[in-house]
Amino acid sequence: MAGHAHAAPDPLAPHASWSVTTRGTAPLPPMGWNSWNAFNSDIDEERILASAQALVNTGLAAKGYRYVDIDDGWWLRRRQPDGRLVIRAERFPSAVTADGAGSFRPLTDKLHAMGLKAGIYSDIGRNSCGQAYTANFANQPEGSQLEREVGLYGHIDQDIRLLMGDWNFDLIKVDGCGIRAMTPANPLVKSGAYRALGPLVDYDTLSRTDIPAVRGLYQEVSDALARTRPANDYVFSLCLWGSADVRSWARQVGNMSRTSEDISPNWERMLHNLDSVARRELYAHANSWNDPDMLYVGTGEFDMSHREEARSHMALWAMLNAPLIIGFDMRKATPDLLALLGNTALIALNQDPAGNQAVLAWDSDTVQIFVKTLADGSKGVAVFNRTGSAVDATLTAEQLKLRTDAPVDLVDLWEGKPARFTGETRLGLAPHQTLMFRATGQREHAGGLYLSEQPGAVNPAIDGVETPMADPMIHRGLLPWKNTKGSGERPIYGGWGGARADATPYGQALRIGGETFTSGIGTLANSRLEVRNAGFARFVTRVGVDDSALSATAKVRFEVFADGRSVARTGWIKRGDAPIALSAPVQGARIVELVARGDRTGLQNDLPVTWGAAALDR
Ligand code: GAL
Repeated sequence: MAGHAHAAPDPLAPHASWSVTTRGTAPLPPMGWNSWNAFNSDIDEERILASAQALVNTGLAAKGYRYVDIDDGWWLRRRQPDGRLVIRAERFPSAVTADGAGSFRPLTDKLHAMGLKAGIYSDIGRNSCGQAYTANFANQPEGSQLEREVGLYGHIDQDIRLLMGDWNFDLIKVDGCGIRAMTPANPLVKSGAYRALGPLVDYDTLSRTDIPAVRGLYQEVSDALARTRPANDYVFSLCLWGSADVRSWARQVGNMSRTSEDISPNWERMLHNLDSVARRELYAHANSWNDPDMLYVGTGEFDMSHREEARSHMALWAMLNAPLIIGFDMRKATPDLLALLGNTALIALNQDPAGNQAVLAWDSDTVQIFVKTLADGSKGVAVFNRTGSAVDATLTAEQLKLRTDAPVDLVDLWEGKPARFTGETRLGLAPHQTLMFRATGQREHAGGLYLSEQPGAVNPAIDGVETPMADPMIHRGLLPWKNTKGSGERPIYGGWGGARADATPYGQALRIGGETFTSGIGTLANSRLEVRNAGFARFVTRVGVDDSALSATAKVRFEVFADGRSVARTGWIKRGDAPIALSAPVQGARIVELVARGDRTGLQNDLPVTWGAAALDR
């Protein structure tokens, strides 16, 4: 250990810093509009500007919907031999330039003059998603094999300079189809239409995905963005659909990151996308948000004749700090759709400055209760009926971490009506309904804030997951574009075993030595959590190996650091041992770190540990 000349560096050593990326600017979930869910790739300047103008005219822009993002369909070819990208100018008249290459600068200037921000789309591979999967879509790139290579691969610096420098876009979404689909076995590759690349992402199998290579490419984009935009005034949106273990590294690379395949406008698919973020509350932070994909509010099973479904989709995305990106042709928006998208109470929940993703306070396949602790200490509450039948639900003060012997005040966010209860209240839910409340009462933990009430301030820098595993907890409905072809919709998205608020990494209630903890952080052994300390004086917790651990003999030692200084630690403890109380002075420290060190190296998946009732106190 200390003083030993040849000791290997300790992977769990405190860093005394917050390791979420500081590149790019997304202190709150980005809000705006994107062309994909509205028009697919059949886009043109008129359609994009009309929706932009509608955002301004309807007041949605003033409510925060500022990004206007062009998705797939804007490119014509990559000019040879200099590799400059060429815009499909017949669709974008203002982009026409004398040299024929085209420029989006007039369009982004126009959007900026309207008080909006502009977003653009690319792919990390050589080819686009349309080229890979949907050749019948409008506006596919044209020309020779090389000319049709419109993706970033091999051109990262050049393209970032053009798109984010010369053209001055403010957001770039970088898709990953080009490193996933262009396998040597793909008929499109075999026929010579496209060059083979990788695949670096094997969508079905994490172990066949080259995670470091994928991360490395996205890191190169991050580096190019930093060079091109030294003012740091941009958003880098990762679109890897939860593959390549992006959950574990997105927060060091980008400002928002897709957690699942594309949403489609039906209930089952919405559930799937919801589930891909619902248990990742500790992986969303200011400047790096979980992205369960864009809103489909207004379309299909979320149109205004499906009021409950549309409301639920919107409310849940708001609660989970999803980027609120509208996907509707705004020329056709009706007043009731505008009212839902512009619901100020929901937007306020999403844009609350504390930046806490909602935490599951009650979980089942039928009803879920999400609670989001807001900057003023009050709670946003969603009581969600996943099913097509009416159900009764009980909301308790305990679920809100409020005292059971004092009144709890609710404001119904749909109706504006106040209500009051003590202890618990019974609620009736219509099929697919989400009841939304803002709740205030007396805090159960009066001395400070539980860590599980401030997930935005807790970063599992090392979560103990050594080998990424697919998450089996996600609803897996039929994929409309695949139907029942193949062998089924299998667990794919990495994330199983990640750290959780108020649950073990595998979704169990927290329990140490027979004692249940309704508040706490669950993680695996050999983990290091970073906690941002907003002026609290003391860190308190009762720790132990969780009763759900498979190993009865493996030992764990817990240690707390304040700005890198050790301020409290336990001896070695094992499953079944009573919880050990720690109370550590953290006054003045900016970063508190929680290290749980196992006595074995390698896989710790059998060893959940619990920071029970962990709290920062005044
Ligand atoms: C998908 C992506 C969608 C959309 C589409 C364009 O990979 O997830 O959001 O961008 O490509 O082809």
